[in-house]
Amino acid sequence: MAEQATTRRVGLPWAYLLGVLAAGGLTLVVVLLVGGGAPERPPPGLPDAGPVVGWALPVSRFLADAAGVLVAGTTLVAAALLPAGEKGALEPAAGRSVRTAAVAAGVSVVATAAELVFTYADFLGIPAGQAVGGPGISSFVVDTVQGRTLLVQILLSGVVVLAAASVRTARGAGWLSLAAFVAVTGPALAGHAASSSDHALAQTSLVLHLLGVSAWVGGLAGVCLAARVPGAPLRTLATRFSWLALWCVVAVGISGLVNAWLRLGSFGEVAGSSYGLLALGKLFALVLLGTFGWLHRTRTLPRLEDGSRRPFVRLAAVEVAVMAATVGLAVGLSRTPTPYTGQRSTSAAESLLGYPLPPPPTAARLLFDAHVDATWLGILVVCAALYATGTRVLARRGDRWPVGRSVAWYGGLAVVLLMTSGGVGRYAPVLFSVHMVQHMALNMVAPILLVLAAPVTLALRALPARADGGGVRRLLVDVLHSRVVRVLTHPLVATAVFVTGLYLVYFSDVYDFLMEDHWGHFLMQAHFLLSGALFFWVLVGVDPGTRRLPFPFRMGLMLAVMAMHAFFSVALMSYGTVIGAAYYAALDRPWSTDLVADQRLGGGIGWAFGEVPTLLVLAAMFVQWIRADRREAEAYDRMLDRRERAGGDGPARPG
Ligand code: HEM
Repeated sequence: MAEQATTRRVGLPWAYLLGVLAAGGLTLVVVLLVGGGAPERPPPGLPDAGPVVGWALPVSRFLADAAGVLVAGTTLVAAALLPAGEKGALEPAAGRSVRTAAVAAGVSVVATAAELVFTYADFLGIPAGQAVGGPGISSFVVDTVQGRTLLVQILLSGVVVLAAASVRTARGAGWLSLAAFVAVTGPALAGHAASSSDHALAQTSLVLHLLGVSAWVGGLAGVCLAARVPGAPLRTLATRFSWLALWCVVAVGISGLVNAWLRLGSFGEVAGSSYGLLALGKLFALVLLGTFGWLHRTRTLPRLEDGSRRPFVRLAAVEVAVMAATVGLAVGLSRTPTPYTGQRSTSAAESLLGYPLPPPPTAARLLFDAHVDATWLGILVVCAALYATGTRVLARRGDRWPVGRSVAWYGGLAVVLLMTSGGVGRYAPVLFSVHMVQHMALNMVAPILLVLAAPVTLALRALPARADGGGVRRLLVDVLHSRVVRVLTHPLVATAVFVTGLYLVYFSDVYDFLMEDHWGHFLMQAHFLLSGALFFWVLVGVDPGTRRLPFPFRMGLMLAVMAMHAFFSVALMSYGTVIGAAYYAALDRPWSTDLVADQRLGGGIGWAFGEVPTLLVLAAMFVQWIRADRREAEAYDRMLDRRERAGGDGPARPG
């Protein structure tokens, strides 16, 4: 039943939101005072930036967080939660959300720029005035992770400010939202997360935490602001948001607890340190906010069905206030000294790897000495959950989904899990040869299984087609028909990406650069997996979206690529220069010290591994060819039967 438009203004006025912002700021000040994060005068002789910088830094951080969260939430409301108009055009409420996002992005630019200046002043222990005027701030921005991160946040928010005025469609709002969600992850790449020993896990969990918080807190604020627009479909909006909020509560809770644990190091520190007590405060806030969510589901959303909006808006008003206070608590927490930094005397290898250098590899260690990569684990859990949800939707509808495809999907995910979190995952950043095993499996084994699982077809069959033409399914169809996908899935382009990636990564400085930190390593692994998926989608993929070459051409392409791959491996085996020399020198392994020998072994593994997918793909193509032939023959026979029944003669059999 279409939602009745109403002219009565409900939702939360700006004044109220500014009020809760002030409450959040006040919470921050109290937390800093009681938690030990308040600025203190340094011991005599040490540079002192002064109390202004000391207080302005966390306050500007809080404003930057709050504004960033609001930009992410309001653009998300416009792009995905509010129904779109004709051809995806923004309806009035969505247009208002985008304008709100532009204002909030402007605040975010100013607040983050202030945070940048105060961070630099605090870093050098100089007053803010000197920091702004001095020449050093530009090199701080360019040469430090913190400086670069804050600059990127400013630039992305700036993009939202400048582009918002020309956004007219839900898809346009989607691009703004993407920029906004990338910008809010800034705090995860600097601060406590970057300095802890297991920085990979700390950063990944904080990224997930900030994304969850932004969609949840920003989303609710966006819903309440959009509801003020006469005619805004609050019932649809609130129902869709409620689903999103459920996932956010789970993501924020898990990632927050993981992150808090990395800083606390033991249960004793939970009650034994102010950091622990503040984290407990956040847990309490999460439980309270979760309860509000439950009350919405059991009380206010049903009332919305009957057209009564006030209960929802009243509860949402309290909820937004608690959320603002929690964000204040969070920024205070990030300024509070942590009891456990894991900072024992970490070796160069440990700060590079994020874990101690393992002993020499054995078959048992390569198989069982796991080291969980939180980033990949998170991605794999989401991929498994989405695929399982899709097949369950079809099963509930009575539609069949071939078991072989599910087996292929989970098999492909298992290969990625083994290669990123198993023993190979622990040794791949340590030994070039093991890195090559990981690379080959991610590039040439897992993708074949994943594309044979037809995930796009499953998504298109399981996702609901929304009456307003919007929603995830529409987005997926648009992406599949987009020019970018059409170009990327051209057999020659997919092949070029697959092959050139190899030569570019290993025979240039790209490998050194990417091995320097966790995110570079992750990007390299993601490139191998995605370029493999693209290439094998073109060759043996079941999903729509690619230009299908005739089978003989595909087999030819496969053999040509295997030849280029073999050439790459031979070149690697005979390459006299050590790839990643600076990185392996910094690791300083006390065993297997002959780097050239290890590299040669890596080349050999690349060569041997190349044969495996050739066989897999040729087998898959052969089966597909036979099936395609059989389908064609059956279709022809059916047509002949129809003709005979109609009393006519048939044309000659094709082929
Ligand atoms: C189980 C509950 C939660 C726990 C254990 C938790 C824990 C944490 C931890 C450990 C950090 C990193 C702080 C640091 O850098 O040292 C953090 C950051 C953050 N949390 Fe939570 N959190 C929880 C729930 C929430 C909720 C419900 C919200 C918002 C409504 C929230 C908002 C934030 C924000 C905005 C940051 C980033 C602060 C900054 O660095 O600028 N958290 N959280």
